[in-house]
Amino acid sequence: MSKWIVTGGARLSGEVPAHGAKNAALPILAATILLSEPVELRSCPPLSDIEDMCAILRALGCTVARSGDTVRIDASTASHGTLPEALSHRVRSSVFLLGSLLSRFGEACAPYPGGCEIGNRPIDLHRYALERLGVIFCERDGRICARARKLCGAAIDLDYPSVGATENAILAAVRAEGETVISGAACEPEIADLARFLNACGFSVQGAGTPTVRIFGRPNGHGVTHKILPDRIVTGTYLIAGAITRGTVTVTDTDPALVGALLSKLEACGCAITVYGDAIRLSAPERVRELLSLETRPYPAFPTDLQAQMFALLSTARGTSVITENIFENRFRHAAELRRMGAQNEIRGRTAIIRGVKRLHGADVTAHDLRCGAALVLAGLGADGETVIDHAERVDRGYDRMDEAIRLLGGKIQRKEDFDLG
Ligand code: UD1
Repeated sequence: MSKWIVTGGARLSGEVPAHGAKNAALPILAATILLSEPVELRSCPPLSDIEDMCAILRALGCTVARSGDTVRIDASTASHGTLPEALSHRVRSSVFLLGSLLSRFGEACAPYPGGCEIGNRPIDLHRYALERLGVIFCERDGRICARARKLCGAAIDLDYPSVGATENAILAAVRAEGETVISGAACEPEIADLARFLNACGFSVQGAGTPTVRIFGRPNGHGVTHKILPDRIVTGTYLIAGAITRGTVTVTDTDPALVGALLSKLEACGCAITVYGDAIRLSAPERVRELLSLETRPYPAFPTDLQAQMFALLSTARGTSVITENIFENRFRHAAELRRMGAQNEIRGRTAIIRGVKRLHGADVTAHDLRCGAALVLAGLGADGETVIDHAERVDRGYDRMDEAIRLLGGKIQRKEDFDLG
């Protein structure tokens, strides 16, 4: 457990690079199980979710070695399809491994997946997609067990564009016999990155990043070196950090095309945005304007993973803003924590009404989940006095040393691990 102590007041300024995307790295790590040749992944940051996924791969018999942001995986020694209980509970994305393990071993067994506490996260769409390809499921001692004598290409029509179910279907289909067409697929750029990886390995995935994905099954792939795409949520979080501290922040090593919905909302708030090459500069006004409506929706609309950070920003806007969370049903846990810091907000079902206050003040708060933690760091930076964030280790699930990045920009943040607390 770790507490972070944030002292507000400094206007952030300077440059910070975005690291590789957690949500692209996780399914690509799952995909390495499909290969019996070594793979090298660059821009694969040492986030705790990614390290947990690497530990799961090791438990399955793979050799995994990290050097800086590069991870090498040799899955030729993978020996079975049973996921380790404790680790798999921690990482929801271990569910992606079902598709690749079924493809490799014809069977897979997993505990119900873990991940953020942001609401009920069922896996019915994953199951439906895999069943269409010939998988039979049963539940044994609270575990999901799946079996497929042979995976066969099929038409998969998703009722909702689930990111994980789309990725799992792709992973199970690349070595299936024949053609698979996924309709109603999620269009997130991390899915397109997974497809780029798989195609570089010699598989055939067409249309990823659009609602219709076609997969032509091929028996085997080969090893490659792949660079993970930049993390759009990290990019957005550091831009919002600039906005909430009335500063000027440039995020480098990113892809501005991935954060269009965020940039237009930040401009609507009164921030000046300049895009050049792979960098985005944000220059903040003295006080941001309210947003009459901010709705989270699947890509390319505004991402749910940036909702909490925008909630923190809008808590200090001139007027009243309204946020609607359409993806997860329990993703406003930051609202009560922000109220401890002087924010005024009210939650009505999936909608939050936020009356902007001039300044927030420091308080003792809890990071209930990863993005809630990120939002509290931003709120603390923009507040008067000291904010102590409990369970801040949850931020390490998705941000590579966020505290160091913030200090580089002139912010004051200190990490106290359990043993320092006395
Ligand atoms: C991924 C991201 C996560 C992001 C989310 C939405 C990863 C590792 N995580 O999560 O950061 O917040 O996309 O952009 O990439 N659902 C079902 N049944 C299913 C699957 C999903 O009802 O079988 C529902 C979920 O409960 C949720 C919605 O669909 O309400 C979106 O979930 P999904 O797109 O699957 O998100 P994840 O892949 O879990």
